[in-house]
Amino acid sequence: QWPMADPRPVFHYAPQRNWMNDPNGLVYYDGEYHLFYQYNPHGDRWGHMSWGHAVSPDLVSWRELPLALPETEVMAFSGSAVIDWKNTSGFGRGGKPAMVAIYTGFDPKSRIQAQYVAYSNDRGRTFTRHGKVLDIGSTEFRDPKVFWHEATRRWVMIVVKAKEKKAAIYSSPDLKQWSHESDFGPTASSRSVNWECPDLFELPVENGRPGETRWVLTVSQGDNGPDGGSGEQWFVGAFDGRRFTLEPGWPDTPHWVDHGADFYAASSWNEVPDGRRVWIGWATDLRYAHAIPTYPSRGLMTVARSLSLRREGDDWRIAQAPVRELKQRRGPLRRVENVRLTETPTPLELGDSVDLLVTIDPLRASQVGLTLTDAQGHELLIGYTPETREVFIDRTRAGPHFHDAFADRHVATLPPGKGTITLRLLVDRSIVELYAADGTRTITDRFFPGKGPLRWSATARRGDAVIRRLDAWPIEPMRS
Ligand code: FRU
Repeated sequence: QWPMADPRPVFHYAPQRNWMNDPNGLVYYDGEYHLFYQYNPHGDRWGHMSWGHAVSPDLVSWRELPLALPETEVMAFSGSAVIDWKNTSGFGRGGKPAMVAIYTGFDPKSRIQAQYVAYSNDRGRTFTRHGKVLDIGSTEFRDPKVFWHEATRRWVMIVVKAKEKKAAIYSSPDLKQWSHESDFGPTASSRSVNWECPDLFELPVENGRPGETRWVLTVSQGDNGPDGGSGEQWFVGAFDGRRFTLEPGWPDTPHWVDHGADFYAASSWNEVPDGRRVWIGWATDLRYAHAIPTYPSRGLMTVARSLSLRREGDDWRIAQAPVRELKQRRGPLRRVENVRLTETPTPLELGDSVDLLVTIDPLRASQVGLTLTDAQGHELLIGYTPETREVFIDRTRAGPHFHDAFADRHVATLPPGKGTITLRLLVDRSIVELYAADGTRTITDRFFPGKGPLRWSATARRGDAVIRRLDAWPIEPMRS
């Protein structure tokens, strides 16, 4: 029905065909970043959950590989992967460490969700099943994220008791025997039906004392997110290998990772060589994930993003930036400077897949914006309202109206500052990622233009404004 098969996004990962949801098993090993993901090998709706697989040398250009973990009598739900350098599990071969996947096995008969282990001795191409390692008899116990905790010299797992809205912490010497340490949650600030896909990692405090760090706990929430749909919340605190303790004075109001509709189930890589914390999310809203009008694949990842943490007044902010490797995929720079904006749209030639940085001085305009128009006349507006210091993406006139939750406007408020604002925008055919205020505010939204190229234009309302500078780099399709 929808003519959305082509063109595919150029620098965002989607499998060639079929259904994809959460990123899984993110780990770097021997020159490759692995991106496993929830995948249905038999269709473009959720089902037969298995782990699909892609690899990349640079976190930007992905190559799809054959299925890594097919469903058996249990489906392979979300989970993570580690490299067992010390061979604590005994799964290593010939002096080489094993890649160990820890994931939720879902038994469709009993509906029990329990944690399972499988390992690979061939760089993630094939896995041997070890079996079940942690079962508490629950039907809502899933999404283990495992990492090596150097201070206590053992493995740590964070995993949700989904309906109880708890993130449970377990520890293990060998990835097989797990001991319960503590539970975090529920919290007053989360009003969703459930918690899913937790993560836990340490970040330096950018504007803190030398060497100052905090632990960040992130958790996806099925509903009641920033726009009413699904979303992802984060918390700052301390972690001693056993217990996550909230930062003193942490408010009861939610801190959302992203203010758009389409950011969910994000997870971070283990083993990134230079110590950066990089993660990737599933670009969807659970309200319409099943109905996304694309074919023959359904499901898209965001770009991989580097994370940092900083204080902002009495509060905290997570800052996200597309990984720096994206710059290597940039084509020739196109720059425009000092473009006057009025109510009459000023056309811009920017293309369908582009990385751009724009500095706008709104002067006395009530609103400034960039409009993307498709050949059918559908419009997506990316804008800024100076009076309220709000950046927004407005999909109310974007097409097609495949679901009621789609036609919406998503807003993030910038911190107080001067008149001029700078936005980084990634537009890739059917997704926009907006990064404002140095990445401390992001809005990630999908949109579904029909066939034909996108047309760009810029406008100002009720008064003139000026684009001080706009740098645009086309991102070229990968030549493989
Ligand atoms: C999140 C999720 C996870 C689960 C997986 C199943 O989107 O529901 O909690 O492990 O998807 O595909």
